Amino acid sequence: MRELIVNSSVVSASEDEHYMAEALCLAKHGLGCVWPNPSVGCMIVDMATVPPRILGRGWTQPGGCLHAESVALGEAGESARGATLYVTLEPCAHYGRTPPCVDRIISAGIGRVVSAMSDPDPRVNGKGHACLLAAGITLEQGVLEAAAHRLNIGHLRRVLEKRPFVQLKLAHCRNGSIARAGNHPLRITAGIADSYVHHMRAKADAIMVGAGTLSSDDPELTCRIPGTEGRSPVRIVLDRDLNAGLSSRLFQTAGKTPSWIVTGQCFSSERTLPFTEKGVRVLMAKQTEQRKLDLDSVLRLLANEGITRLLVEGGASLAHSFLTSEKADEIILIEGNIAIDCGGLPAFTVAGPELVAQNRSYSLSETRALGQDTLRRYVKRI
Ligand SMILES: NC(=O)c1ccc[n+]([C@@H]2O[C@H](COP(=O)([O-])OP(=O)(O)OC[C@H]3O[C@@H](n4cnc5c(N)ncnc54)[C@H](OP(=O)(O)O)[C@@H]3O)[C@@H](O)[C@H]2O)c1
Repeated sequence: MRELIVNSSVVSASEDEHYMAEALCLAKHGLGCVWPNPSVGCMIVDMATVPPRILGRGWTQPGGCLHAESVALGEAGESARGATLYVTLEPCAHYGRTPPCVDRIISAGIGRVVSAMSDPDPRVNGKGHACLLAAGITLEQGVLEAAAHRLNIGHLRRVLEKRPFVQLKLAHCRNGSIARAGNHPLRITAGIADSYVHHMRAKADAIMVGAGTLSSDDPELTCRIPGTEGRSPVRIVLDRDLNAGLSSRLFQTAGKTPSWIVTGQCFSSERTLPFTEKGVRVLMAKQTEQRKLDLDSVLRLLANEGITRLLVEGGASLAHSFLTSEKADEIILIEGNIAIDCGGLPAFTVAGPELVAQNRSYSLSETRALGQDTLRRYVKRI
């Protein structure tokens, strides 16, 4: 095992991994509520004591303005001098909504920085690490890099590919239907799975449904279970012709939880006013030749708005579009322990969940029981 000398004490690589793993756990707190910023975790540790003493912990605060490094340094105070700082993403080196974190790290007298990965954001992109080295701080890079990559996937997609990380989630019955005949909504999953979905929502920046789901289900699309309240993402409806009913619960509560409609053309202010008056944002994306919203254009639009993590919650037509165009990074299918009589709506309009298993671009990465329901996660092959 590799060893390092820090402030006259020996630090093993596994110790670095241990504290970085803790910093990665801290970073998870910010997922879904810090966009357009990445969610970062930071630990400050005095490695000269036996055992090492944790001096400060921090993660990016809601809204993204207060960075993890500032929070952890604030907690550590003067004791940070000479300590080791663990951070899950390269510290920023530019003035944004906050001053550069590297300045704060340098002035706090941190002796060594352990960073999980560099930040490809052009405003950072190696400059943060370079500033630390230029200030004489010892720098270790790439500790638990693969895990940090998974955690920062939304930020990476947005910065490098100009689109959010996309998860598509559907609940289906044992026979593959996602709704009753005539598109009547159906309760498919039970308590544990429902709570899992609310936690998924809480980690997303935005949730999307098609106009069909809005009119048939009138969903709220909020996080309502204990521990997730106040973390509801932006709710987005794809509605090419702006036909959505203003009386829907989603628009009626737009003042409390942000709600956006993406349309396929520029409507007059007379048409959009009833929505904007309620606090609904009306955005515009391109249409395909088949007169659907072009998903590339929609995803680019959302990335421009700062969305890094998108959860698509149906219905069948939208799920079909995401699957066939392979725009979903992950597909999460939750099989409920119920079956309905024939005539239900198949998960992907033309077929049931088997369509995912047949798609060679996706592979099954996880199967887990959620109470009496079963979750299957498929990830896009690279
Ligand atoms: N079990 C589950 O997990 C689950 C989840 C959600 C919904 N559902 C069920 O699904 C049913 C609704 O499904 P649905 O297929 O009728 O409607 P949908 O997929 O929710 O919405 C389809 C509509 O979205 C708009 N749209 C815009 N761009 C699109 C694109 N690129 N691809 C596809 N659609 C696009 C189109 O309307 P415009 O032309 O007006 O733009 C289209 O008609 C309901 O019965 C609901 O209960 C089940």
